[in-house]
Formats: sequence, C-alpha cells, structure tokens
Amino acid sequence: MDVATVKSAYSRWARVYDWIFGLLFGNARRRAFECMELKPDNYAIEVGVGTGLSLTLLPEGCHLVGVDLSRPMLERALMRWRADSVDRTAALVEGDGTCLPFADSTFDAALAAFVVSAAPDAVALLKDMQRVCRPGARMVVVNHFSPNKPRLAKLWSGLSGITSRLLGFHAEFPLESLFEKAGIEIDRIEPATLFGGWRVVTCTRRDHDAN
Ligand SMILES: C[S@@+](CC[C@H](N)C(=O)[O-])C[C@H]1O[C@@H](n2cnc3c(N)ncnc32)[C@H](O)[C@@H]1O
Repeated sequence: MDVATVKSAYSRWARVYDWIFGLLFGNARRRAFECMELKPDNYAIEVGVGTGLSLTLLPEGCHLVGVDLSRPMLERALMRWRADSVDRTAALVEGDGTCLPFADSTFDAALAAFVVSAAPDAVALLKDMQRVCRPGARMVVVNHFSPNKPRLAKLWSGLSGITSRLLGFHAEFPLESLFEKAGIEIDRIEPATLFGGWRVVTCTRRDHDAN
C-alpha cells in the first residue's frame, strides 16, 4: 500500500465512513481519550484524524491538531468541527503522519485510531508520533491487530491482500513487533470492542526514547 492507494481508498470511503465507523467503534474512541489522560490546556495530536469522529470527545479546555493524508476525509472533519461550539480548539492539517510538520516534544498526548493498519509505513508513523510528544506524554493506538489464535490469524492473513487493495487497510497486523520496530514500550493493552482483535494500546513517551 502506498500514499496514492490510501488517498484513493479514503476519497471513496469519505462519504459513507461515519455510518460504518461512527457507531461501531465509538466506545473504543472514548476509551482512547480516557487513556490519553488530557488535562485542561493540554495539546494533543491525532494522526490520521479522518472525518474527525473523535473531535467531539476532546475534553473542554484542551486543544487538538488533527493530521490526515486525505483531503475528502479532512473536509468532513472540518464540517463536524464547525458544527460544534464547545470550548475547545482544533486545527486540521493535510499531511503525512510519517513527517509531521511539528518540532520535537510539542504535544502532551497523541492518538492514532484505526490508522496504523491503513498507513503505508506504520513504523515510521509511530516513530514520528513519538518524536512530537514530550517526555511523559501518553501515546494511544487503537487498531485491529493479528489475533493470537493461529486459525483466526491465518484467516486474517488471507484477507489482507483484498482489504489493502479495496478498503485501504492491512488485515494482518502483528502488534508486538510493530511497537518493537518503532522502539516504543507498551504500558497496557486492552480489548477495544466486543469483536476479537481490536485493541487499545497505551504507551508513555519516555525520557530516553530516541527520536
Ligand atoms: C480508518 S481511517 C481512521 C480515521 C479516524 N482516526 C477514526 O477514528 O475514525 C484511517 C485514516 O488514516 C489516514 N492515514 C493513513 N495513513 C496516513 C498517514 N501516513 N498520515 C496521515 N494520515 C494517514 C487515512 O487517510 C484515513 O483518513
């Protein structure tokens, strides 16, 4: 999967995305925000913000920067944000999560929800997410990862070719090796939905993490 494939997949998805992913994964997004432990005046970044389904979950007094590769997805996020009048600020940026246009240690928390399996280079995306977080910041990743059960894992592996071409995400996605390659230690892994495989992964940007 490359950047052009992702952009093309999500320009198709943008119109119907909220109908499918809004209801289905609402609880997982809410849990992700709890895990970010945002405090008033904190700045958070959401990499792959999509149509901005999480924007209304941002606690009052906090600020969010949402970055995404897909302009049609961001246009929906902007409409959602304009319809919301609560005391929070958001900025939406068209860009690539693997080369974020922000200085090191800018943010107090970071979120990547349903993005790592949709990204052309998930390791680079996690590394850059870590770079822009300050030491002590919570980094939360919500995604479908390869199931631990061998039979289910084989099934998802078989589906991966089809899902990346048509839907813009890899169905087969190993959790531990991804974070290991990105050099990020995991604090906690929780089930994200009733369906197996989706998980909320919480990490902390440590002082000694290399950029
Ligand atoms: C399944 S959607 C998730 C959207 C949103 N986070 C949510 O919870 O509904 C995946 C999004 O990730 C974006 N994406 C994929 N790779 C990216 C990258 N390298 N940088 C920025 N956005 C990316 C896609 O354009 C798409 O909008």
